Amino acid sequence: MALRQIRELGDSCLTKVCKNVKEVNARTRDLVGDLLDTMYDAEGVGLAAPQVGILKRIAVIDAGEEYQDEPLILINPEVLETSGEQTDYEGCLSVPGKVGRVTRPSYAKVKAYDLDMNEYIVEGEDLLARALLHEIEHLDGHMYVEKVSGPLLTNEELAEILKAQEEEENQDK
Ligand code: NI
Repeated sequence: MALRQIRELGDSCLTKVCKNVKEVNARTRDLVGDLLDTMYDAEGVGLAAPQVGILKRIAVIDAGEEYQDEPLILINPEVLETSGEQTDYEGCLSVPGKVGRVTRPSYAKVKAYDLDMNEYIVEGEDLLARALLHEIEHLDGHMYVEKVSGPLLTNEELAEILKAQEEEENQDK
Protein backbone atom coordinates (compact mmCIF):
# COMPACT_ATOMS: atom_id res chain seq x y z
CA MET A 1 0.00 0.00 0.00
CA ALA A 2 1.14 3.48 -0.68
CA LEU A 3 0.15 7.09 -0.68
CA ARG A 4 -1.01 8.49 -3.98
CA GLN A 5 -0.90 12.09 -5.10
CA ILE A 6 -4.22 13.87 -4.62
CA ARG A 7 -5.34 15.82 -7.67
CA GLU A 8 -6.52 19.34 -6.97
CA LEU A 9 -9.33 21.51 -8.31
CA GLY A 10 -8.54 22.36 -11.93
CA ASP A 11 -7.17 18.88 -12.72
CA SER A 12 -9.12 17.38 -15.62
CA CYS A 13 -9.51 14.02 -13.80
CA LEU A 14 -11.93 15.74 -11.43
CA THR A 15 -14.43 16.64 -14.14
CA LYS A 16 -14.75 13.25 -15.86
CA VAL A 17 -17.53 10.69 -15.57
CA CYS A 18 -15.87 7.56 -14.19
CA LYS A 19 -16.30 4.05 -15.57
CA ASN A 20 -18.07 1.20 -13.82
CA VAL A 21 -15.89 -1.50 -12.29
CA LYS A 22 -16.57 -4.85 -13.99
CA GLU A 23 -14.31 -7.05 -11.89
CA VAL A 24 -12.16 -6.66 -8.81
CA ASN A 25 -8.58 -7.70 -9.49
CA ALA A 26 -5.24 -7.19 -7.72
CA ARG A 27 -4.98 -3.67 -9.13
CA THR A 28 -8.42 -2.79 -7.76
CA ARG A 29 -7.44 -4.07 -4.32
CA ASP A 30 -4.19 -2.09 -4.44
CA LEU A 31 -6.10 1.01 -5.44
CA VAL A 32 -8.60 0.63 -2.57
CA GLY A 33 -5.74 0.10 -0.09
CA ASP A 34 -3.99 3.19 -1.42
CA LEU A 35 -7.19 5.26 -1.30
CA LEU A 36 -7.60 4.36 2.39
CA ASP A 37 -3.95 5.10 3.19
CA THR A 38 -4.09 8.39 1.32
CA MET A 39 -7.39 9.42 2.94
CA TYR A 40 -6.15 8.70 6.47
CA ASP A 41 -2.79 10.36 5.82
CA ALA A 42 -4.58 13.52 4.64
CA GLU A 43 -7.10 13.28 7.52
CA GLY A 44 -10.07 13.25 5.16
CA VAL A 45 -13.49 11.66 5.62
CA GLY A 46 -13.63 10.26 2.10
CA LEU A 47 -11.67 9.88 -1.10
CA ALA A 48 -12.75 8.91 -4.60
CA ALA A 49 -10.60 7.21 -7.25
CA PRO A 50 -10.66 10.19 -9.68
CA GLN A 51 -9.03 12.26 -6.93
CA VAL A 52 -5.92 10.13 -7.41
CA GLY A 53 -6.27 10.15 -11.19
CA ILE A 54 -8.07 6.82 -11.66
CA LEU A 55 -11.33 7.22 -13.56
CA LYS A 56 -13.19 4.29 -11.98
CA ARG A 57 -16.34 4.26 -9.84
CA ILE A 58 -14.62 3.54 -6.52
CA ALA A 59 -14.61 5.57 -3.29
CA VAL A 60 -13.79 5.07 0.37
CA ILE A 61 -15.34 6.77 3.40
CA ASP A 62 -14.57 6.85 7.08
CA ALA A 63 -16.81 9.30 8.89
CA GLY A 64 -15.72 8.01 12.30
CA GLU A 65 -17.01 5.46 14.78
CA GLU A 66 -20.14 7.45 15.53
CA TYR A 67 -21.27 6.59 12.00
CA GLN A 68 -19.61 3.32 10.99
CA ASP A 69 -17.67 0.38 12.44
CA GLU A 70 -15.20 0.03 9.61
CA PRO A 71 -14.16 1.99 6.53
CA LEU A 72 -16.71 1.90 3.74
CA ILE A 73 -15.50 0.66 0.39
CA LEU A 74 -17.90 1.72 -2.32
CA ILE A 75 -17.64 0.14 -5.75
CA ASN A 76 -20.13 1.31 -8.41
CA PRO A 77 -22.20 3.16 -5.77
CA GLU A 78 -25.66 4.44 -6.66
CA VAL A 79 -27.90 6.73 -4.65
CA LEU A 80 -31.27 5.00 -4.18
CA GLU A 81 -33.01 7.49 -1.93
CA THR A 82 -32.45 10.79 -0.15
CA SER A 83 -34.54 12.85 2.23
CA GLY A 84 -34.36 15.79 4.61
CA GLU A 85 -31.99 18.70 4.46
CA GLN A 86 -28.82 19.80 6.23
CA THR A 87 -26.60 22.83 5.76
CA ASP A 88 -23.05 22.70 7.02
CA TYR A 89 -19.46 23.45 6.16
CA GLU A 90 -17.89 20.89 3.89
CA GLY A 91 -14.39 20.36 2.53
CA CYS A 92 -12.61 18.16 0.02
CA LEU A 93 -9.07 16.84 -0.11
CA SER A 94 -8.89 18.17 -3.69
CA VAL A 95 -9.54 21.70 -2.39
CA PRO A 96 -6.98 21.75 0.42
CA GLY A 97 -7.37 24.16 3.31
CA LYS A 98 -10.82 25.39 2.26
CA VAL A 99 -14.39 24.83 3.37
CA GLY A 100 -17.75 26.06 2.12
CA ARG A 101 -21.38 25.91 3.19
CA VAL A 102 -23.33 23.26 1.33
CA THR A 103 -26.97 22.26 1.66
CA ARG A 104 -27.63 18.57 1.08
CA PRO A 105 -30.11 15.88 2.05
CA SER A 106 -29.66 14.73 5.67
CA TYR A 107 -30.31 11.09 4.77
CA ALA A 108 -29.02 8.97 1.92
CA LYS A 109 -29.54 5.33 1.01
CA VAL A 110 -26.88 3.95 -1.30
CA LYS A 111 -26.36 0.65 -3.10
CA ALA A 112 -22.77 -0.39 -3.73
CA TYR A 113 -20.51 -3.42 -4.16
CA ASP A 114 -17.74 -4.53 -1.82
CA LEU A 115 -14.33 -5.95 -2.78
CA ASP A 116 -15.92 -9.36 -3.34
CA MET A 117 -18.43 -7.69 -5.68
CA ASN A 118 -21.24 -8.47 -3.25
CA GLU A 119 -23.99 -5.91 -3.37
CA TYR A 120 -24.84 -4.12 -0.13
CA ILE A 121 -26.92 -1.21 1.06
CA VAL A 122 -25.64 1.57 3.27
CA GLU A 123 -27.82 4.20 4.89
CA GLY A 124 -26.29 7.37 6.26
CA GLU A 125 -27.48 10.39 8.17
CA ASP A 126 -25.82 13.75 8.78
CA LEU A 127 -22.04 13.55 8.13
CA LEU A 128 -22.24 10.09 6.58
CA ALA A 129 -25.05 11.15 4.22
CA ARG A 130 -22.97 14.19 3.29
CA ALA A 131 -19.87 12.07 2.66
CA LEU A 132 -21.77 9.48 0.59
CA LEU A 133 -23.30 12.13 -1.66
CA HIS A 134 -20.04 14.10 -1.92
CA GLU A 135 -17.99 11.04 -2.95
CA ILE A 136 -20.55 9.73 -5.43
CA GLU A 137 -20.63 13.17 -7.08
CA HIS A 138 -16.86 12.90 -7.63
CA LEU A 139 -17.52 9.78 -9.73
CA ASP A 140 -19.68 11.89 -12.03
CA GLY A 141 -17.10 14.66 -12.30
CA HIS A 142 -18.72 17.05 -9.85
CA MET A 143 -17.24 18.89 -6.89
CA TYR A 144 -18.85 20.40 -3.82
CA VAL A 145 -17.61 23.87 -4.81
CA GLU A 146 -20.37 23.91 -7.46
CA LYS A 147 -22.94 23.82 -4.63
CA VAL A 148 -21.37 26.21 -2.15
CA SER A 149 -23.42 29.15 -0.95
CA GLY A 150 -21.25 32.09 0.05
CA PRO A 151 -17.48 32.23 -0.11
CA LEU A 152 -14.97 29.44 0.34
CA LEU A 153 -13.30 29.98 3.70
CA THR A 154 -10.00 28.94 5.18
CA ASN A 155 -10.16 26.85 8.34
CA GLU A 156 -9.01 29.90 10.32
CA GLU A 157 -11.85 32.02 8.91
CA LEU A 158 -14.33 29.28 9.74
CA ALA A 159 -12.99 29.02 13.30
CA GLU A 160 -13.52 32.78 13.72
CA ILE A 161 -17.09 32.60 12.42
CA LEU A 162 -17.95 29.67 14.69
CA LYS A 163 -16.41 31.47 17.67
CA ALA A 164 -18.43 34.63 16.93
CA GLN A 165 -21.62 32.53 16.62
CA GLU A 166 -20.93 30.88 19.94
CA GLU A 167 -20.38 34.23 21.64
CA GLU A 168 -23.64 35.52 20.17
CA GLU A 169 -25.49 32.46 21.44
CA ASN A 170 -24.02 32.91 24.91
CA GLN A 171 -25.15 36.54 24.94
CA ASP A 172 -28.71 35.45 24.18
CA LYS A 173 -28.82 33.23 27.24
NI1 NI B 1 -14.07 15.54 -2.31
